[in-house]
Amino acid sequence: MAKYRLKCIECGLTYDDDRVLCSCNGLLDVSYLNPPSDLRSRWMGRRISVWRYFELLPVKSMSSIVSLGEGGTILYRCGRIGEYFGLRELHVKNEGGNPTGSFKDRGMTVGVSKAVEHGASAVICASTGNTSASLAAYAARAGLKCFVILPHGKVALGKLSQAVIYGANIIFIKGSFDEALKVVRGMAEDHRLYILNSINPFRLEGQKTIAYEIYDQLGSVPDVVVVPVGNAGNISAIFKGFMELKQYRLTESIPRMVGVQAEGASPIVNAFRRGLRHIEPIENPETVATAIRIGNPVNWRRALNAIYSSNGYAVSVSDMEILEAQKLLARLEGIFVEPASAASIAGLKKLLEEKVVDRDERIVCIATGHGLKDPDVITRNMNSTIVVESKDASKVVGKLLTS
Ligand code: F0G
Repeated sequence: MAKYRLKCIECGLTYDDDRVLCSCNGLLDVSYLNPPSDLRSRWMGRRISVWRYFELLPVKSMSSIVSLGEGGTILYRCGRIGEYFGLRELHVKNEGGNPTGSFKDRGMTVGVSKAVEHGASAVICASTGNTSASLAAYAARAGLKCFVILPHGKVALGKLSQAVIYGANIIFIKGSFDEALKVVRGMAEDHRLYILNSINPFRLEGQKTIAYEIYDQLGSVPDVVVVPVGNAGNISAIFKGFMELKQYRLTESIPRMVGVQAEGASPIVNAFRRGLRHIEPIENPETVATAIRIGNPVNWRRALNAIYSSNGYAVSVSDMEILEAQKLLARLEGIFVEPASAASIAGLKKLLEEKVVDRDERIVCIATGHGLKDPDVITRNMNSTIVVESKDASKVVGKLLTS
């Protein structure tokens, strides 16, 4: 018997066979048909990771899994930054701990496993950097040919070096991520290529395990989850994860989902502010957080639904606020994240200022990617460093110690 079914979010058509897009070109949702009733006890017997939740993942057999050991990331209790913000309970889920340093690995372990089940020999994605790094790694693991389409000059160095070393074919375009994704969507008819952007429903299934893990790590769901938003797949996936926990009676409530975008790339926040059910794309998105430099997010409909139906919220933050939050998280908690990830901490500050969250609520911020992904942004903004003769170094330390 089939494990799951696909349903188009645009026209409602359902499919029992695997495909990436609906025949109307709409995005597809995965729903599970009669999962076992003892989910909890099955899960408890496995270590925390993406594949702990096999029963609610769309892979037919454990033997087709392509894995690098993704998920099981640490949920840090952040007392010092919590105190700084006057919060009772703040946690940061550090997705930088994944094999290629971002949450994308959760989606790619599932997506590339599906590509293998499908019999694909080549995979492709458009990316602001992390998706390409992750896809390149999983494609290498599975022995698939990999193509990545990237916006020239806008991909952080760490991510690019990953795509290179994992052996992806890299094609830069003179244009934005939104244009790169349009190029990839235009190739949907080419059956030699398996598309692994977040238009692929199976990738989001992997990413929803962030919600399952938070639930397992806290022992219940938090009050608020704050997520940086770019192409809007991740906030949609995490919301789906919480909704499934509710559907299978593992929780009665779900957290309020908060999306954070950079001021120069905030179509979802703009729609939310105006109470709209659709977005107006932004032509030339710009932000220091290149991972979320996206003007026309493909998952906008799901993201707005996640925000509205969880009674959530959306805020935008400036580049300066992002860089400040990045520094704060590193210096108060020892957690180094890339700028897009720090948007969740910067967004939390805004939520407190706008009194959208209470200081005694239980809050989880998602830190989506590792700080070493984008070293340039740090060194570019570095204050002058000290260079001295070696014989003078101890004197300088002494002076700094007492200052
Ligand atoms: N944070 C990081 C570090 C990301 O790389 C991304 C997306 C996001 C947040 C936003 O997630 O798109 O699901 O809303 N990066 C994609 C990429 C676009 O190509 O790597 P989203």
